[in-house]
Amino acid sequence: MTAIDDSTVRDPDALRADMVRALRDQDAVTSESVAAAFAAVPRHQFAPDTPLELAYDLHRTVPVKKDEHGLDISVMSAAHLQAVMLEQAGIEPGMKVLEIGSGGYNAALIQELVGSDGAVTTVDIDRDIVDRARLCLDDAGYGQVKTVLADGEAGVPGGAPYDRIIVTAAAWDIPPSWIGELAEKGRLVVPLTVRGTTRSIAFHRDGEGLVSHSYRLARFVPMQGEGAAKERKALLRDGVAVQTDDERVPLDSEALNHALDSPRLLRWSGTPYDLPDELELYLALNLSSPARLHASQDVVDGGLVEASALLGVPALISEDSIAYRTRRENEDTDGFESGVVAHGPQSEALADEYLKLLRRWAENHRRRGAATIRFLPGPAPSTLPENSVLKRHGIVAVSWH
Ligand SMILES: C[S@@+](CC[C@H](N)C(=O)[O-])C[C@H]1O[C@@H](n2cnc3c(N)ncnc32)[C@H](O)[C@@H]1O
Repeated sequence: MTAIDDSTVRDPDALRADMVRALRDQDAVTSESVAAAFAAVPRHQFAPDTPLELAYDLHRTVPVKKDEHGLDISVMSAAHLQAVMLEQAGIEPGMKVLEIGSGGYNAALIQELVGSDGAVTTVDIDRDIVDRARLCLDDAGYGQVKTVLADGEAGVPGGAPYDRIIVTAAAWDIPPSWIGELAEKGRLVVPLTVRGTTRSIAFHRDGEGLVSHSYRLARFVPMQGEGAAKERKALLRDGVAVQTDDERVPLDSEALNHALDSPRLLRWSGTPYDLPDELELYLALNLSSPARLHASQDVVDGGLVEASALLGVPALISEDSIAYRTRRENEDTDGFESGVVAHGPQSEALADEYLKLLRRWAENHRRRGAATIRFLPGPAPSTLPENSVLKRHGIVAVSWH
């Protein structure tokens, strides 16, 4: 019989303690209550088929269910992102909380935060996920968390009003139920996708609508059901795609593909490139004809498209031309300098508009948290306010200070 060397097998309690320490070191956990919740809930019990090291990895999600194309439709979210969102939520003992998008683990963390006087409801659109969450919650000793099978678009009216509503799938819009089911002084934390880029936004009530209290970069599986994203996508060629949720933007895949074959125009802004998530939000909301350009590693390695497009980059497009952001090392601009790559007959004009925005952001808004995001529910006004995006249930309007 071979002896097992168990010196490398880590004990889950030790891994959990390391995780909490690292979450604090990285400023994802900033309060004692959230630290205590992460220390208390056995994360590995919500990922029973997963190696312990993966279950306790701060930045990795644990796959739970994939669709027919192999894309994740349910994962246990990364601990780092869960911590950031729980801090944004500011949950206190005794609160009533609704989680939209289940898995069990995050609901258990919330149960720790609200304590025995509080109440947690978690809703998921997928029966497999609800059943799995129920089993994990019961096994881990969180039988008091209520699990519901439904499309979260309608919230869960039976338990309203909620002091906190936390959405854990990328939402394209904010349905009336989420505002209607929120307590007067409640807070909605939602990963909202605007122009293809997602931020976890902590919203407070503001009149009939909502105003942001904080926002952080977030990546989530998309919301399914009634509230699923409304976006157009065009594959230009293998490994290059453009998407937009703005109805006014032309999306001619043949002409844009042709543009990519034309010589590139490259211009540098002379201003720093940093805080990429802040810059991305600014560009996405300010470009006059916005889209998002995606390119695969092969295409980037081949030199056709810059690496900025690997995770998607805000692009300015016309019927036959495209411009997008790039960067280069430059000590004179604090390490990196932003620039623009443009292709097609209108590349000069598109590059000019893009460069203007890169410079305006660097000069006036280059800091964390410079944006305020509002959600104004109801029918759209005849002219949209500046920097706003039309949704089904209202508009998202962003201002910078
Ligand atoms: C990232 S997972 C949730 C992670 C979970 N909160 C945890 O504890 O780690 C996102 C979940 O949202 C669910 N979902 C997607 N669209 C939904 C909808 N319209 N209503 C309710 N749940 C939805 C998916 O089925 C998926 O299980």
